Amino acid sequence: MHFQLSEEHLMIQKAARDFAQNELKPGVIERDEHQKFPAEQIKKLGELGFLGMMVDPKYGGAGLDAISYVLAMEELSKVDASASVVVSVNNSLVCYGLEAYGSEEQKQKYLVPLAKGEKIGAFCLSEPEAGSDATMQRTTAEDKGDYYLLNGTKNWITNGNNASYYIVIAQTDPAKGHRGINALIVEKDMPGFQVGPKENKLGIRGSDTHSLMFTDVKVPKENRIGEDGFGFKFAMKTLAGGRIGIAAQALGIASGAYELAVAYSKERKAFGTTISNHQAIQFKLADMATEIEAARLLCLKAAWLKDQKQDYAQASSMAKLFASETAMKTTVEAVQIHGGYGFVKEYHVERLMRDAKITQIYEGTSEIQRIVISREVLK
Ligand code: CAA
Repeated sequence: MHFQLSEEHLMIQKAARDFAQNELKPGVIERDEHQKFPAEQIKKLGELGFLGMMVDPKYGGAGLDAISYVLAMEELSKVDASASVVVSVNNSLVCYGLEAYGSEEQKQKYLVPLAKGEKIGAFCLSEPEAGSDATMQRTTAEDKGDYYLLNGTKNWITNGNNASYYIVIAQTDPAKGHRGINALIVEKDMPGFQVGPKENKLGIRGSDTHSLMFTDVKVPKENRIGEDGFGFKFAMKTLAGGRIGIAAQALGIASGAYELAVAYSKERKAFGTTISNHQAIQFKLADMATEIEAARLLCLKAAWLKDQKQDYAQASSMAKLFASETAMKTTVEAVQIHGGYGFVKEYHVERLMRDAKITQIYEGTSEIQRIVISREVLK
């Protein structure tokens, strides 16, 4: 076992760090305030290969490993979690799902433009009445021979309006329960597909989150991913990888807030010295540093298992659980260290605190991660 990153890993980390500082940081406060999607920045990330990081170059991807993905997600999320969630969903939930389980035709038609960043994808599982209890899909995909007739509503969909391709999970045969669910690729311009209003969110306000409505959308049979009834397992397998991305996002939010708190503590003076000389602040920084390091190791371990083609579902849930709780705790402490300045937008930590909260909710709440972990523990 060794803990040294390779030269290539360090280069990717640096490229993501430079991009975050030079391209994401300018305007991040305004994009958050005005709920503005980082379209230009996402386009550039696509051109640099960050939207299809782990996809085989023969399908337009960068051919990197999951460790590189964690390193990039941490650096981007230190600065702009609204941009990094687009990166995470496109890489883990859409590109990975298509590359691992899609047909060759689906890969050529959909994966190539998604991996190159020419198009953005969305993953549509959640519904008004099916969030954590994901088997309770009310969206129906009725089998009509050559096509599925798709009807229903999806909620909280990241990239809801900016995506071109949507992987939609829907129930075909309710009698079969989760084994009657399918995953279908839906194109934005298919008749009957409508994007609902944008959510006005607490955090990651630059990302576009929408409900989606499907009314008699005819989805060709060749757009089903995998065998009939594979949709729920497809969603679970894809989410296991997605949780590595969100864990790394949470890690980045935490480490971004921590770095700002360390820098501020060395500048701000109180009681005749910088606040970094007060033990009350030193102990906070020590706890933050320790928890962030533990979160980072969990993220890298889950990514390493994925790269080694070993089972990583429990490891990714552990990483997401711990990193998201760390993000919440760390950002609250970073605001506290900044005092009144932490409560205003210019100092960035209040945004990171608001952004941290979603990492405990999406791609499975902390409670869902505990279910996944405890099932493995008790198996
Ligand atoms: N890999 C492969 N198969 C899996 C699996 C995995 N990781 N996890 C479960 N399965 C399979 C099971 O083996 C089972 O199949 P069989 O019956 O054939 O054995 C089937 O899936 C059903 O599993 P369970 O009986 O365990 O299902 P459950 O209803 O008890 O609960 C759950 C499973 C873990 C709670 C699941 O419902 C879950 O993960 N819920 C949370 C959903 C979620 O994360 N939503 C996030 C939305 S996406 C999002 O947020 C994206 C975004 O925009 C950022």
